Amino acid sequence: MRLEWFLLTTVIGTVFSVTPPLSSIPESLWKYKEDLLQQPTNFVFNLGLQGAVTQDDWDRATLADVEPPVLLHPNLNGHTKPVTVTGKYMRTIKNRTICAFQGIRFAEPPVAEKRFKKPEPAKPYFPEDKLLANHLGEKCPQGAMFGPVGSGSEDCLNLNVYTPYLPDALPNGEKLPVMMWIHGGGFTGGDSSLYLPTKLLDHDVMLVVIHYRLGSLGFFSLQSNEAPGNAGLWDQIEALKWIRDNIDGFGGDKTRVTIFGESAGSASVTWLHLLPEAKGLFHGIIGESGSSLEYWGLDPEPLVSGLLVAGINGCPNDTDTPVAEIFDCMKDVPADDIALNLNHFLGEDRKRGEMGFRGAAPVIDNFPGATTPLISKPAEEYYMDGEGNNVPLIIGANKQEGSFVLASKFPAMPRYGI
Ligand SMILES: *[C@@H]1O[C@H](CO)[C@@H](O)[C@H](O)[C@H]1NC(C)=O
Ligand SMILES: *[C@@H]1O[C@H](CO)[C@@H](O)[C@H](O)[C@H]1NC(C)=O
Repeated sequence: MRLEWFLLTTVIGTVFSVTPPLSSIPESLWKYKEDLLQQPTNFVFNLGLQGAVTQDDWDRATLADVEPPVLLHPNLNGHTKPVTVTGKYMRTIKNRTICAFQGIRFAEPPVAEKRFKKPEPAKPYFPEDKLLANHLGEKCPQGAMFGPVGSGSEDCLNLNVYTPYLPDALPNGEKLPVMMWIHGGGFTGGDSSLYLPTKLLDHDVMLVVIHYRLGSLGFFSLQSNEAPGNAGLWDQIEALKWIRDNIDGFGGDKTRVTIFGESAGSASVTWLHLLPEAKGLFHGIIGESGSSLEYWGLDPEPLVSGLLVAGINGCPNDTDTPVAEIFDCMKDVPADDIALNLNHFLGEDRKRGEMGFRGAAPVIDNFPGATTPLISKPAEEYYMDGEGNNVPLIIGANKQEGSFVLASKFPAMPRYGI
C-alpha cells in the first residue's frame, strides 16, 4: 500500500467513522486515553486495517425483505438430530444472490480455567434443534477501532459460511470447494465483520470466515500447561476440524479446502503449513503479506514476554513466582483489560522502535511436560528438515507495503490521527 494512500484512508476513516463514537463514549471509560490523544501509534495501526467495512456496507449487501434461506443440517456440531439452520440472503457486486450462515459456534467459549488453552470443540447448542444464523457472532476481545476501550467477547469462537448454492441446489450435485479465511491484525485485532463475501462469491466457491483468539488471550505463554501459548493457532485448527466434520451439510467439499489469510493471517496459514497437528485438514494455501518466517512470526522469548504481560495486568511476575499463581491471577483479569493493557504495552514497544508483537505471537511450546505441544522449533528448521504438510502454496506481498509499519512508528499525525 502506498503511504499516501494509507494516510488518506486513515484520515477518511477518522472523519467518517471515528469521531461520532468517540463523542458518545464517556472519557472515564477510556482506559488509556493518552494513547489516543498523544500517541497515535496504536490508533494508526488499528485503523489502517479496520476502517474499511461498515454496518451500512453489510446492510446494503443484505436482502432483507425475502424469505431467508433454510437448510436442514444432518449432524451440526455432532448433534444427533437434524438442525434447521436459517441464514440470510446477500447480493454480490455482480448481483448474484448468495446465502450467508453466520455466527456458528465451532468451539466452546474459552473462559475461566479454559483461558489461554487449546479450545474444546463446540457442543450442540440449539434450542429445539433450530439455529438462527443470520448475524455475525461476537469478535474476540480487542481494543475498539475508535479508541482505547474494549470490544468483543470471550465467547467469540464462531464462524460464517457463505455459499452461492443451498446443498439441494448444487449444479450437478457437485459439492463446492471451500476456502477458509484467517484475518490479519497483528495477532491482536481483526474480525469477520471486515470481510464482505460479496466479491469472492461471484465464483463457485464456499467461503468460511473464522475468528480466533487474539493478543494475550490467544498467545499468552508461561511455558507451562496452565498457559502453553498458541491458543489462537489451536482455534484455527479447531475451525478446520469443524469444516472437516460439518461442511458437507452445507454442500462443501471437505477434500478440497484452501486456507488463506493476510498479514498475521498469512503467518498463520504458513504455520499451519508446517504443523503436524494440522495435517490433512487442508489441501492448499494462499498467503498474503506475511509468513511464519517473519521476524514477528514467532516470539523468541515467550517466558520473558509472558512475565511482562502478567506484570502489565497487575499479576505477580517475579521469575520465582509459581506459574499456577500467575495463571490464577491472569484467568480472572477482565478480557477487555487484558486486551487494552497489551495494546498499550505494544504501543510503547513501537514507540521504542520495536515491531510491537511481543507476547502476541506464536511460540515454541514443547517445554518439558507439555501435554499439547504444537510448535517444536522455528519455521526455518521445519523447512530445512524437509517437514511440513505437502500441499500447494501461493504466497506474495505488495511493493512498499512496509510503509504501513513505518506509519505506525512515526506519529506524524499528532491528534486524532490527522
Ligand atoms: C439484481 O437482481 C435482482 C433479482 O435477483 C433484480 O431484481 C435487480 O434488478 C438486479 N439489479 C441490478 C442492478 O441488476
Ligand atoms: C513485572 O511487571 C512489572 C510491571 O509491569 C515490570 O516493570 C517488570 O519488568 C516485570 N518483571 C518481569 C520479570 O517481567
